Amino acid sequence: MIEELEAFRQKAEGELAKAVTEEALLDIRTRYLGRKGLLTGLLRNIASVPPEEKPLFGKRCNEVKEALSARIDLLLAEQASAKRDAVLLRERIDATLPGRGVRYGRLHPVTQVREEICSIFAGLGFSVVEGPEVEQDYYNFEALNIPKDHPARDMQDTFYVEDNIVLRTHTSPVQVRIMEKTRPPVRILSPGRVYRRDSDISHTPMFHQIEGLLVDRGVTFGDLKGVLTVFLKQVFGEDTALRFRPSFFPFTEPSAEVDIRCVMCSGKGCRVCGQTGWLEILGSGMVDPEVFRNVGYDPEEFTGFAFGLGLERIAMLKYGISDIRLFFENDLRFLEQF
Ligand code: DAH
Repeated sequence: MIEELEAFRQKAEGELAKAVTEEALLDIRTRYLGRKGLLTGLLRNIASVPPEEKPLFGKRCNEVKEALSARIDLLLAEQASAKRDAVLLRERIDATLPGRGVRYGRLHPVTQVREEICSIFAGLGFSVVEGPEVEQDYYNFEALNIPKDHPARDMQDTFYVEDNIVLRTHTSPVQVRIMEKTRPPVRILSPGRVYRRDSDISHTPMFHQIEGLLVDRGVTFGDLKGVLTVFLKQVFGEDTALRFRPSFFPFTEPSAEVDIRCVMCSGKGCRVCGQTGWLEILGSGMVDPEVFRNVGYDPEEFTGFAFGLGLERIAMLKYGISDIRLFFENDLRFLEQF
């Protein structure tokens, strides 16, 4: 038996000498020293050992077991540290190398203008809401008092998805959707994409608008003038001169267009303002009683004003950009200037 034990020990050591991976070492440990391993098998044969040799055999078994076990632990530890060294070597960094520059992104100029306007109106208590770009005829036209024969409904101006479904031509339908769902007071601002069949130096088939709406008891045209004056002076500067010009929109009565003194020539007259000295900035007016009736508001009880403006136009005037198409060509040489 003692000889068998010795053979067992040599065989194990022979295998250990060849084991190069952690898995191999663990495998040897299980096969030789595990609960169902070879050593357990040997010990089970102790019955066939002569009684006087039993203590010695038992002692040897323990010595062999401890020796092998210690050897395996050592080899495993060496394995682990070799692995760590390899990782450290592979991931070695040269702290003297110059850093790599980080490329910063920036917001698109239209986004910048949108955020600026939204934050001005947030300061006046307006909340920002959104509506669908694929819109029902009803919300885009009908509910806004734009009758079936209105020129804006012409196939030449509007993208039709289906008979009664359009790509919204303005952000005004959001007014209707919000009023249908809420009772006054209403104070909302709604930015978003709008679509028209139009394409030249100052028109793109998709552009951005912001719609504003304020409804409450006792809202007057004076409130409209006050709010829009505060707003435009914040965007274009305190000294900006404004004028409110009578106009027409089917969904407001009375309606006004708001001009600012030309930012290019300060009113002297130039190409940008068409020699008039004024720039048209937005459309506005007192919400038409017909629109209120369509959403179930009593026009005798509530009044309100609305306005709408094109974001690209504001950005063009603010940054002196002469071709609207530049916004959508995604040329970094252009975009990186903002
Ligand atoms: N929806 C108009 C347009 O696209 C802009 C507009 C004008 C919106 C007057 C309004 C408004 O809310 O009161 O041209």
